[in-house]
Amino acid sequence: MDNMLDLIKQRRSIRQYKKQIPGDSEIEKILEAARWAPSGLNNQPWRFLVIKDKEKKDKLANFTKYGEIITDTPGVIIICMDIADSYNRDKDLMSIGACIQNICLQAHSMGLGTCWLGEILNRKEDVHKYLNLDKDLELMAVVALGFSNENITKGCRKSLRQLLIK
Ligand SMILES: Cc1cc2nc3c(=O)[nH]c(=O)nc-3n(C[C@H](O)[C@H](O)[C@H](O)COP(=O)(O)O)c2cc1C
Repeated sequence: MDNMLDLIKQRRSIRQYKKQIPGDSEIEKILEAARWAPSGLNNQPWRFLVIKDKEKKDKLANFTKYGEIITDTPGVIIICMDIADSYNRDKDLMSIGACIQNICLQAHSMGLGTCWLGEILNRKEDVHKYLNLDKDLELMAVVALGFSNENITKGCRKSLRQLLIK
């Protein structure tokens, strides 16, 4: 897909996946896009953990009401903020958002589906304990990753007119 706007518009959150596991080189390419996101002061506060182990991944599903997406997907990317590398919480959160969007768009450009899972943050301390994360790491999101098993759907958005401030 050459056109950036088409890529952005055609990306959808995918909640049903095929069994096929994305290859390590594909995941690496997606993390490469993540790594190149912009950040305030270029402090790059993001850290990543990839989970493909079925048992470990499936247990993670217990921490969100959207757990079925996690059990269905062959892999997840955990995105954390390194508090030790944070200089301004607002800006670091925005940077992490840009990083996650890069993940979703890069995956989509490679024919892979993603679903950005945020509801799991309601239990971020429990997930932190479960994953045995370093004390400086704060959970920001879980992104489901795999080959889509859904029909292509058209998204919907507010019109530009509704969004422009008069
Ligand atoms: C910060 C954030 C948190 C989200 N959390 C969830 C979630 O917990 N579960 C889920 O199924 N989708 C989640 N989504 C996906 C949104 O529901 C989805 O992006 C939105 O409905 C628009 O649909 P689209 O991504 O297909 O265009 C989240 C998206 C964002 C950006």
